[in-house]
Amino acid sequence: MKELKGKKYHIITFGCQMNEHDSETIAGLLQTEGCSEAEDRSDADIVIINTCSVRENADKRFFGTLGQLKKQKAIKPGFTACVCGCMMQQEHIVSAIRRQYPWVDVIFGTHNIDEFPDMLLQLYQSRAAALEDAGKTAGNEDLIPLSDRDYTRAKHEIRSARESRVERIYEDRKEIVEGLPARRLYRHKAFVNIMYGCNNFCTYCIVPYTRGREKSRHPEDILREVRQLVSDGVKEVTLLGQNVNSYRGVSPEDDRTWDFADLIYALNEIEDLERIRFMTSHPKDLSDKLIQAFRDCGKLCHYIHLPVQCGSTEILGRMNRRYTREHYLALVKKLREAVPDITISTDIIVGFPGETEEDFCQTLDLVKEVEYDSAFTFLYSKRHGTPAAEYEDQIPEEVKHQRFDRLVDALNGISLRKNQAYIGRTEKVLVDSISRKGTGTLSGRTDGFKLVDFSGSEDLIGSTVDVEITEGKTFSLRGRRK
Ligand code: SAH
Ligand code: SF4
Ligand code: F3S
Repeated sequence: MKELKGKKYHIITFGCQMNEHDSETIAGLLQTEGCSEAEDRSDADIVIINTCSVRENADKRFFGTLGQLKKQKAIKPGFTACVCGCMMQQEHIVSAIRRQYPWVDVIFGTHNIDEFPDMLLQLYQSRAAALEDAGKTAGNEDLIPLSDRDYTRAKHEIRSARESRVERIYEDRKEIVEGLPARRLYRHKAFVNIMYGCNNFCTYCIVPYTRGREKSRHPEDILREVRQLVSDGVKEVTLLGQNVNSYRGVSPEDDRTWDFADLIYALNEIEDLERIRFMTSHPKDLSDKLIQAFRDCGKLCHYIHLPVQCGSTEILGRMNRRYTREHYLALVKKLREAVPDITISTDIIVGFPGETEEDFCQTLDLVKEVEYDSAFTFLYSKRHGTPAAEYEDQIPEEVKHQRFDRLVDALNGISLRKNQAYIGRTEKVLVDSISRKGTGTLSGRTDGFKLVDFSGSEDLIGSTVDVEITEGKTFSLRGRRK
């Protein structure tokens, strides 16, 4: 599309890996149309904010950023402001944007990403027509003094944006769109969606509403994508889905249904692929077959993110998680028996409606029993339209915060102790990037997903090296190259 060629884009991403991967796809689509990335937002002609409806403060940060874009729009002719992602699947948010931010140019949801270039084209065409009309009514622009001209132009731009805004949202399509390009953040590792959506309807969670119903990709499409990635130099893939354990991909070749473990076994055969990870695994669907795959498949990393959410069976029931505390603990035991060096991380929500001190203590106990390597902790917060938002026994903010702090203290103590136990061990580290800590320091991940910093030169990025661990900190390890 000639209208897009040469334009500079900048994407701001607020959400999870799936959201990040959507941003990679958006970037891939724009690059295919001849656009290039602007490192700095202020240099961009097109800014896209990819939103999240779950992360703490993601909504506040979104509206804050959107406010700043208005200024950019006012001073930069032809500037295009786009918003997408999970928040755009929520009707009250989209209405708020229409009302309070009418100058936003493109709004699209999680089911319309492939249509984005087309939406931009539609925008540019109607904007050109609107500006032409506005130009006619404003008269000869050259006669307007420069400062007033900017003001007039900004007014026209904002009016024309309102008139030509393109929106494609909400509808959940049955078919998965295959073959979209992606501009990956890293050369040597990649995210691969194996399924979309979620059917679980945990009572606190908005994701089933923002991402639609569960749909699995055909196994052949996934295998083809991974083979292609590997031939492009990718060594590690992370398979993405809200609940990968319920993957059911039907092969169009022989109508056979593959489960998640079948997929892992097949991926494990791909030559030159070094590591397979996945995210996220719902405890209710974690099968013995998958646990066996950890033993059989050399490329499957010994790491699992297994969100527990809470240690009280009572609260788990009210969350609609469909497993008990005992079931979860039994799973962890089975995993550890099968794979003794497996590292485990989790998600925990503190202050779900009705959570008593006793319930919370059960979470603390569970954390101490499992001894997580790391954890994401969330303060329960109401999500518009979810059942739990209507529950009457909401927990006061100060109680939530106090429990949150106690939980984080317990978790951090365990992480530190576990990481210190790595001192003296040699780990295989896939080097990701130059560490934020400064030049000469690289950072990468162990098989067990531990972050390691060590000294080395930039050309090691993308390769796997042996690193002897010399220090264990709460959130990372430090080491020296062997
Ligand atoms: N599909 C994944 C989770 C996706 S959302 C799974 O089931 O594990 C990521 C995490 O956000 C959840 O695991 C949960 O801990 C947290 N979360 C979701 N909704 C929340 C809410 N309303 N309040 C606080 N935390 C929430
Ligand atoms: Fe949300 Fe539950 Fe689905 Fe995870 S499994 S996305 S927490 S509804
Ligand atoms: Fe957020 Fe959507 Fe992911 S709500 S956590 S970006 S699926």
